[in-house]
Amino acid sequence: MEFQTLVLTHFIVTLVVVVVQPGNGAGFVERKGTQFILNGKPHYVNGFNSYWLMNLASDQSTRSKVTSTFQQASQNGLNLGRTWAFNEGFLQTSPGSYDENAFKGLDFVVSEGKKYGVQLILSLVNNWKEFGGKYKYVQWAKERGQNVIYDGDFFTHPVVKEYYKNHVKTVLTRKNTINGILYKDDQTIFAWELMNEPRLNDSAKSIQNWISEMASYVKSIDDNHLLEIGLEGFYGETKKQFNPDLLLVGTDFISNNQIPQIDFATIHLYPDQWLLSSNETTHSAFVDKWIQDHIQDANNVLGKPIIVAEFGKSSKSPGYSIDKRDDYYKKVYNIISTSATSGGSCAGGIFWQLLSPGMDSYGDGYEIILENSPSTAQIIKQQSTKISNIKL
Ligand SMILES: *[C@@H]1O[C@H](CO)[C@@H](O)[C@H](O)[C@H]1NC(C)=O
Ligand SMILES: *[C@@H]1O[C@H](CO)[C@@H](O)[C@H](O)[C@H]1NC(C)=O
Repeated sequence: MEFQTLVLTHFIVTLVVVVVQPGNGAGFVERKGTQFILNGKPHYVNGFNSYWLMNLASDQSTRSKVTSTFQQASQNGLNLGRTWAFNEGFLQTSPGSYDENAFKGLDFVVSEGKKYGVQLILSLVNNWKEFGGKYKYVQWAKERGQNVIYDGDFFTHPVVKEYYKNHVKTVLTRKNTINGILYKDDQTIFAWELMNEPRLNDSAKSIQNWISEMASYVKSIDDNHLLEIGLEGFYGETKKQFNPDLLLVGTDFISNNQIPQIDFATIHLYPDQWLLSSNETTHSAFVDKWIQDHIQDANNVLGKPIIVAEFGKSSKSPGYSIDKRDDYYKKVYNIISTSATSGGSCAGGIFWQLLSPGMDSYGDGYEIILENSPSTAQIIKQQSTKISNIKL
């Protein structure tokens, strides 16, 4: 019943959009200064991370988990999901070769997003070993006789860069086998993300050039969609005193995001993993300052929107309780909506991570199963309502 209503609603909405605003650009999210604009109005997001969607969608026996995840998300007013459009060894089995069944899984994810009114940020490669990542790309080059030395070559080696560009092109020009829409024309896609959490542990180098080259490449294929980098928010040398424990990871929140093809900034937030101290007061102060510093930079220096693209609280962290998790979510959401409602650059948050029941093997301590977490679901829903009611 609900499903039918949704489909019908979607059909009517599509008709109205086509009639009122013909043309390709009717429903792409755009940016204007520090705000997102959708159909002429400022647009805010409340989102979830579910990195595993393609994997479960490509197996008929688990596909229904993807549907129920979108269903739950939509019922709680979540309008944005962030997920992986990469999996080296599974989706891309070797450079330029793709597993059609895995790709059909991604097609399903994108088409379900449309059905349930949830837009998607699709990330194009991982910095980490999980799902292949830069390590797999470098390994592929090595196996083919290229002179690569370590994983940092991902950002500079010409052959590896070509492999990555080929993946970008393959995903962006993919025609969805379920609804026939090219990904690059699909308004369900909110934005592309160059890489999940790019880092280069060689402090003498930076990944600025890589971002610049790849951002231009993405826009040369698709300038309808927004683009972000996938940054955690670490500053470079000149502002390293703002980083947790002075950590330098080869990125610079300011200069990386100043690249013209980058439409908005992102930060991630993991005090439990980033700070040496386990003092709760210190953590709480860090959370405030990390988000506020970046919002200020987005407002005043970048002039672009910003999203808190990963935050969460692990049940494995010391002193964990559901109440503490709920307080944490409230705190982060409050900072976000305070900025958004006053015309600031922060357009939303994407918590890490949403699971469906029966997916225990995907649990990492941060998971939220909305059906089983009524108090947290309530806080999430309140935030959805708040951001959808913002009138500026
Ligand atoms: C970077 O990390 C790799 C493996 O994690 C290590 O072998 C290498 O020495 C590191 N490089 C630097 C400059 O720290
Ligand atoms: C945590 O840090 C705060 C501020 O530096 C300090 O006042 C407090 O005593 C510390 N708490 C513990 C348990 O060490």
